[in-house]
Amino acid sequence: MREIELKVGRGVCRIFVEPGLLQRLHEILPAVLRVSDIRRPAGLVIDGNLRKWARPLEKVLRRVGLDPVTVIVPSGEPSKAMTRAETICRTFARARLERGSPIFGFGGGVVGDLAGFVASIYMRGVPFYPIPTTLLAQVDASIGGKTALNLPEGKNLVGTFQQPAAVFIDPLLLFSLPKREFVSGLAEVVKYGVIRDEDLFAFIEKNVQDVLKRGPRVLEEIVARCVRIKVDIVRRDERDRGRRAILNYGHTIGHAIERAGQYRRYLHGEAVSIGMEAEAVIAMQMRLASLEVVAAQNRLLRACGLPTRMERASRDAVLRAISHDKKVLDGRARFVLPERIGRVCTGVEVPEEVLLEALDTVTR
Ligand SMILES: NC(=O)c1ccc[n+]([C@@H]2O[C@H](COP(=O)([O-])OP(=O)(O)OC[C@H]3O[C@@H](n4cnc5c(N)ncnc54)[C@H](O)[C@@H]3O)[C@@H](O)[C@H]2O)c1
Ligand SMILES: [Zn+2]
Repeated sequence: MREIELKVGRGVCRIFVEPGLLQRLHEILPAVLRVSDIRRPAGLVIDGNLRKWARPLEKVLRRVGLDPVTVIVPSGEPSKAMTRAETICRTFARARLERGSPIFGFGGGVVGDLAGFVASIYMRGVPFYPIPTTLLAQVDASIGGKTALNLPEGKNLVGTFQQPAAVFIDPLLLFSLPKREFVSGLAEVVKYGVIRDEDLFAFIEKNVQDVLKRGPRVLEEIVARCVRIKVDIVRRDERDRGRRAILNYGHTIGHAIERAGQYRRYLHGEAVSIGMEAEAVIAMQMRLASLEVVAAQNRLLRACGLPTRMERASRDAVLRAISHDKKVLDGRARFVLPERIGRVCTGVEVPEEVLLEALDTVTR
């Protein structure tokens, strides 16, 4: 088992990564839960598609002396709503969850954001234990202590910072993930390679077939490496004031592509993949990166089964979305651009004509 620690302020978040970890959770939990947490009601929030896990998880929690109160939420983005958070808080209040009662979140980024948000506001904050079940949540969303809910006015407009007490990552859970969701999560994995870790990039290149077959050892390796990179970045910038920006590689254009497709056409990772392609092209046009960097990234994204081109109709909508984001950011749409594999620079302003040309390059 790999254990990675994220120390921030006075607290420590322990992150465990092991294929099969879920089967051993009853052994690991007693050492992780503080003694005062034992024999208390505990919250358990589960994604609707994973409801078959409710009973086994409740059994594990009972075995370690907790009294679980389970809430199953409909799968999908609409569950990240304030009304849903309030309903869960009220369920927990009726079940007499108290200060210090742990809350577990079993699901992808949606459940992680929702249950993490609830844990950060219920009784002014109780310990949160995510058990992420998607690749995106294992390598990204469950690490770093950001939570967010959507408003009708926009995505992720409400949120909190609260580090989880511990994160339990079992790559075997990824077996049941729909292929498209799994591949979409790989975009973030490739991103970590490009922004920070040439060896990770080479490792995925070399093992791409095993990765796509979801070989447990290969998954453990890449998930643990991505977690380490994110931990390292978050440790230096918990409140997202600057350094975390490098995690946004591919996302300036990626978010615009998601928005232009009304969040229906592309999954997050698919949009980020096209965004990374476009931003690498920008880096090349601005003479920050060589053609080889663009080519190597393109090869790997495609080998993973990720898109690097978008529909013709999208370009103008993407441009509009970027200029909208620009307004929100005080007129500063700053880019994170690669210099080589494993290294990026941040805060780059990109001339309009360069952006246009890059968007044309990634348009079918
Ligand atoms: N807080 C953060 O730092 C952070 C970072 C990145 C993304 N996010 C958020 O994460 C969300 C996206 O997360 P996601 O991509 O995990 O989506 P998701 O949680 O919606 O899960 C994707 C789909 O997979 C299903 N699923 C989950 N695990 C499964 C499994 N093991 N087997 C079968 N099906 C499974 C879910 O029911 C859902 O239909 C977005 O709301 C985004 O804003 C948050
Ligand atoms: Zn992302």
